[in-house]
Amino acid sequence: MVSNPENTFANIRDLLRVWSPSEPVYCIYPDAYVRNARDFVTGFPGRVLFAVKANAHPDVVRLIHEGGVSHFDCASLPEIETVHSVCDNVTCYFMTPVRLRGSAKEAQERYGVRHFMVDHQSGIGPLASEIDMSSSVVFARMAVSHESAMLDLSSRFGAPPDDIPAIIEGISSAGAEPALAFNVGSMVTSPEAYRHSIGLAKTVLEGLPVKIRLVDIGGGFPRSYPGFEVPPLSDYFNAIRKDVATLPLAENAEIMGEPGRALAGPGLSALVEVCLRKEDRIYLNDGMYGIFWELRFKGHDRFAVRAFRDGNALQGENRSFRVYGPTCDSTDKLPGDVDLPADIRPGDHLEFGCLGAYSLSGRTDFNGFRSDRIVTITEGTPPGYSQ
Ligand SMILES: Cc1ncc(COP(=O)(O)O)c(C=O)c1O
Repeated sequence: MVSNPENTFANIRDLLRVWSPSEPVYCIYPDAYVRNARDFVTGFPGRVLFAVKANAHPDVVRLIHEGGVSHFDCASLPEIETVHSVCDNVTCYFMTPVRLRGSAKEAQERYGVRHFMVDHQSGIGPLASEIDMSSSVVFARMAVSHESAMLDLSSRFGAPPDDIPAIIEGISSAGAEPALAFNVGSMVTSPEAYRHSIGLAKTVLEGLPVKIRLVDIGGGFPRSYPGFEVPPLSDYFNAIRKDVATLPLAENAEIMGEPGRALAGPGLSALVEVCLRKEDRIYLNDGMYGIFWELRFKGHDRFAVRAFRDGNALQGENRSFRVYGPTCDSTDKLPGDVDLPADIRPGDHLEFGCLGAYSLSGRTDFNGFRSDRIVTITEGTPPGYSQ
């Protein structure tokens, strides 16, 4: 299970004793990843595709596969290559309407990719010129949105529902099997968003002359963060199960989902060091240009965190701190305050949990701060991990 034994520790205390790292270390908890993926696959009423964009680290992809996910939503050839480099017997789907020229052809020829996406008539011709349409499924992506999604993804991709019948017809005429896809947003805080979008899909499907076999309801499944509770995933799965049963689909139809955050988020933590304290302000060796990258967009502002001093857990009375990253940019500040032991000081370490989604993949080397230290922790679960 462990890819590099030198970078494997039983727990954070051992890591701190051996390394006492001054640069950030990102900690993968294999059991948490595998268990979490297994629970999602068991509960979701359809085919589960991991949205690789949420975390393309090979160990994360491999662990999610170990948890029972064998389908992968990829947005580029490198993502497809990563999946195939660490997993056997898997299927990759090229699920973006924007691709580099030639990449659909290469994906099909080298990796046998058969599922693609368009969201406009103009996308069909270029795709058809690169792949064998007769053995492919092409999804028409419909734009949907709902106020409960913290990140709306409908302004960039997706055709208005009224345009979908013509796109489906275009896909059929070009020789491929047409299918339907939509994505309700990211960090969707209510199952109602899925009910709303499935309702829109129903109207579109009822007006089509052909029966569709595959409907991809996208990602967006949220995770609770401390102080930021969302309904349990079972509420989402129950709502989806009930509503997709009403869709007029082909006999052998299947629903697909593309969770990114829900699979990538829980199993990874960041171990960072306090560099400087000024009263109630602390400055870390990592920040908004690093592992907290996603939080510069709309996101949660509460954190699951554990403190350590000289390799041991640090406890005691807490107080709120404003927390800054190490760069010169004044926006390098975590949204929301963080509760930490009142006597926290430089040299102490903090472990932030629930950081596996849109973190490793987004971090930059701005100002020269970037860490590539990624380790495996074999015991326990990261801060904030819940089943
Ligand atoms: C097409 C598509 N599928 C799936 C996802 C994954 O979303 P999430 O991480 O919210 O599950 C995204 C996120 O941008 C997306 O654009």
